[in-house]
Amino acid sequence: MMNHVAICVLLIMLVLLYSCDNSDADTEAVSLESGNLILTALHGDAGSAWRLPDCAACHVLDTIHQGAELIRGMVRDKEYVSCTGCHGRNGSDDSEPRRCGLCHNRNDLPQTPWLDGQHAHHFTAEKTGRLNDEQCINCHVAADMDGQFELNRDLTGYPDARGIVSPYGSVSEFCLRCHNRDHQQSGFEIVASRFDDPLVAVEDAFNFIDQHGLIEGSGTRTYAGLRQGYEYRSVVACTDCHAMHGTDNVKLIIDSSMKGVTQLDVSVREVAHRVTVSEGNYAQLCVLCHQMDVILDDGDLDTGNGLSGVHEVGSNCRTCHTHGEAIQAGL
Ligand code: HEC
Ligand code: HEC
Ligand code: HEC
Ligand code: HEC
Ligand code: HEC
Ligand code: HEC
Ligand code: HEC
Ligand code: HEC
Repeated sequence: MMNHVAICVLLIMLVLLYSCDNSDADTEAVSLESGNLILTALHGDAGSAWRLPDCAACHVLDTIHQGAELIRGMVRDKEYVSCTGCHGRNGSDDSEPRRCGLCHNRNDLPQTPWLDGQHAHHFTAEKTGRLNDEQCINCHVAADMDGQFELNRDLTGYPDARGIVSPYGSVSEFCLRCHNRDHQQSGFEIVASRFDDPLVAVEDAFNFIDQHGLIEGSGTRTYAGLRQGYEYRSVVACTDCHAMHGTDNVKLIIDSSMKGVTQLDVSVREVAHRVTVSEGNYAQLCVLCHQMDVILDDGDLDTGNGLSGVHEVGSNCRTCHTHGEAIQAGL
């Protein structure tokens, strides 16, 4: 027979076991307020529902989510196959897979995110076609679906060069946790085709060479001039030029102003200017943000999407402007 002291000691040990097993982040309650939706080993009465796959056995569709208007109706429509998408696998490997495309598809939520286009970020360069659920989760392991994109809640935390999951200061920092030479993520190793392949060299380029990265533009060049929303001395994010979820352009260059150029004045951005690139002719991308103040060298030629203001329209910009090249004016 155990006496009270023994029971107490046992309880304390259990509590300790629990707290060792669960970091603080894991034990946040599920709510929009905490921003955490992922279930932990405390699920149910002191963990009694952990690892149980049949959500329908205990939760009634009509009564849940009273405080989550944005997703309530949609979850009711999609029913129980949706649960693990937002709440995680509940500790069980044979529970339902985590589905994202169930709601994030071209019928239900075509613009959050913009999914149309042949190219998307597949973790294999030049692969085409739609993203699958696993790929969404690689980048968004625990999004809170509150209708607001928050860097450190909605993007997966990957360790930095020191091996620490430090918070992101910008979307670009997220990209650079994988796109670098010497501290890539296991499972996402990138093989460079040449020394200056941007797939791995873009960390050096963005921090030390590119004008759009940490290096600041001077704003005093011959063809200088930016559209409203952008200024010289501001950092341009990777996702201002590259679309992760869907685009018709190779190298994931955005195919519409709606998919990037996030700081551009809405009066220009929301016209949904098309961007088509071919043979290194990036004029329709650059012209979204650049418009020379003093028109020189055929700078008034329409690039083909209704906007003008860059030089060399129709030529291969790459010979002079590309990641990691400081020659000419760089990128
Ligand atoms: C054996 C019954 C049972 C099963 C099966 C079950 N739950 Fe629960 N769940 C509970 C109880 C009890 C609570 C705590 C009371 C409440 O909030 O409804 C709870 C709470 C929750 C919460 C809120 C947690 C919090 O921290 O506030 C979520 C989210 C949840 N369950 C999702 C699920 C999902 C998803 C599944 C299927 C993978 C599932 N549940 C399966 C019983 C169950
Ligand atoms: C699109 C994301 C999403 C999906 C899918 C989803 N939930 Fe939730 N769930 C939430 C959010 C957000 C909250 C927090 C609501 C709040 O803070 O009021 C929540 C909270 C809960 C809670 C806590 C109490 C409550 O009702 O708010 C339960 C229980 C729950 N979910 C069960 C489920 C079950 C069962 C399913 C599958 C039928 C499911 N959820 C699918 C987003 C989702
Ligand atoms: C390579 C990483 C990556 C992958 C893969 C990825 N995303 Fe994203 N996602 C991002 C980044 C970065 C942002 C923020 C910048 C932006 O909006 O482009 C974002 C933003 C979002 C947003 C909010 C912004 C908006 O457009 O409304 C949603 C919703 C979203 N992603 C859903 C998904 C879904 C669903 C999938 C799978 C089909 C997916 N993502 C795949 C990186 C990724
Ligand atoms: C039941 C439908 C449903 C499922 C399943 C679902 N989402 Fe969402 N998600 C939404 C809704 C609705 C929004 C809010 C859209 C809006 O109005 O901005 C959202 C928003 C987001 C956002 C934008 C950031 C935020 O907090 O609003 C991201 C990122 C995202 N979802 C990723 C995912 C990923 C990854 C999965 C799969 C693991 C997933 N979603 C599964 C419905 C769903
Ligand atoms: C978890 C790691 C990871 C993250 C985070 C990540 N990438 Fe990637 N990315 C990869 C891998 C792996 C490849 C494929 C490399 C290969 O095939 O050799 C890739 C490929 C690419 C490509 C080439 C695509 C093509 O079809 O040619 C671009 C462009 C790219 N990433 C940009 C980004 C941007 C911008 C971000 C941030 C918004 C980002 N990546 C975030 C791992 C990542
Ligand atoms: C999303 C908006 C945006 C797009 C798209 C864009 N740029 Fe820029 N660009 C800027 C901003 C903002 C600066 C100033 C950055 C700084 O000062 O750090 C800049 C700076 C530059 C500079 C350096 C100017 C100086 O004063 O030193 C060059 C060169 C340049 N961009 C070329 C290009 C080319 C070529 C393209 C197309 C491939 C392009 N940009 C696309 C916003 C953009
Ligand atoms: C101002 C727009 C702009 C910004 C900002 C930008 N890129 Fe690029 N990126 C381009 C252009 C244009 C190309 C194509 C250059 C070429 O064809 O040589 C490119 C090419 C790439 C490639 C090569 C893809 C392939 O398949 O060969 C990768 C990887 C890449 N960028 C990643 C990034 C990352 C990561 C960031 C942020 C750290 C970033 N880019 C920021 C415009 C941009
Ligand atoms: C033969 C080389 C060359 C080619 C090809 C070229 N550029 Fe340039 N570009 C330059 C040089 C050099 C400068 C800077 C001039 C200076 O420093 O006064 C420049 C400046 C720019 C700027 C001005 C950035 C700023 O804010 O000051 C933009 C925008 C630009 N180029 C876009 C393009 C586009 C778009 C293409 C392709 C359609 C292109 N360039 C092709 C050499 C070139």
